[in-house]
Amino acid sequence: MQAQLESAVAALRAGELVAFATETVYGLGADAADAEAVRRVFELKGRPASHPLIVHLHSAAQLPLWAREISPAAHKLAAAFWPGPLTLVLPRAATVSDAVTGGQDTVALRVPAHPLARALLAAFGGGIAAPSANRYGRLSATCAAHVRDEFGDAVAVVLDGGDCDLGVESTIVCCDAQRVQVLRPGSITLSQLQAVVGPVSSGADASSPRVPGSTLAHYSPRTPLQQVDAGQLAQLLAQRLAAGQRLGVLAQGPPPRVHPGLVWIVAGAHAVSYAHDLYANLRQLDQSGCALLLVSRVPDDETWDAVRDRLRRAAAPSDLTA
Ligand code: TXA
Ligand code: MG
Repeated sequence: MQAQLESAVAALRAGELVAFATETVYGLGADAADAEAVRRVFELKGRPASHPLIVHLHSAAQLPLWAREISPAAHKLAAAFWPGPLTLVLPRAATVSDAVTGGQDTVALRVPAHPLARALLAAFGGGIAAPSANRYGRLSATCAAHVRDEFGDAVAVVLDGGDCDLGVESTIVCCDAQRVQVLRPGSITLSQLQAVVGPVSSGADASSPRVPGSTLAHYSPRTPLQQVDAGQLAQLLAQRLAAGQRLGVLAQGPPPRVHPGLVWIVAGAHAVSYAHDLYANLRQLDQSGCALLLVSRVPDDETWDAVRDRLRRAAAPSDLTA
């Protein structure tokens, strides 16, 4: 692994891209101080330049190099949750490149916890701008094989840290003088944030900052995906299977029947393990030759916020071509 780390650092210094494990999902990284390398990330992902990237840092001590006007709430959240699956959106320092921020006056920063990501950041020294390592709008990658499926040999180095522990992207929180607001739910819940900083708003409103990457359709399999109430599943299956359709189902319990046209994955009743396997399960269903994917609706409580958000977006009609 030491040799791979060294070649990853050399690649970053040469302006090339490196994929690496984090505790949430794999990232596709570039030297955040090298605008040309950052542009390559957008190009490879096929992502619009106006959708900014998260800059990954080794330590909260680097914050003042990247952000200004860091509020007391931001300091508290960083102290409580870094290293970990929290991204803070803060007013940016003047030196941060427009290529990273999409020209916004804010920058997204995260100190990841995965030992491999930490080793890479320590050896590199600077910030690594990294979106999730998937093609624009598609399912995120939670193991090295997913990254290879997405990009083949286009990424010089893939630092394989095994399966990601959490499986859903970080909780993104905007902290400015006016507000502390969740922009994207993740495995750190609203109540965990509130226990540290008091009231936190969630969900976009008219005064919210722009979140360019939060277009509704996102995390999309190529196969159409629909959410259904668990109670309606059996009836829907009967109709579709009778019509000769092959169906993929992501459910929390076992199938009501066995049928050759039915691919059924039991994702479990616990939010943590459901999230851990979410993208791998959706990838598997997407590759199973089904006409339609049905996902049994997950519970309403906040431990499911991140999973519910990703499923809602995965089910939204996508204008990306298959
Ligand atoms: O867990 C994660 O956050 C993973 C790992 C690799 O760290 N990264 C990730 O990056 O999910 P990405 O690019 O797929 O999602 C980052 C989101 C995008 O929706 C982007 O628009 C938003 O963060 N974002 C980045 N900078 C922002 C800013 N200054 N203001 C508001 N939203 C921002
Ligand atoms: Mg992403």
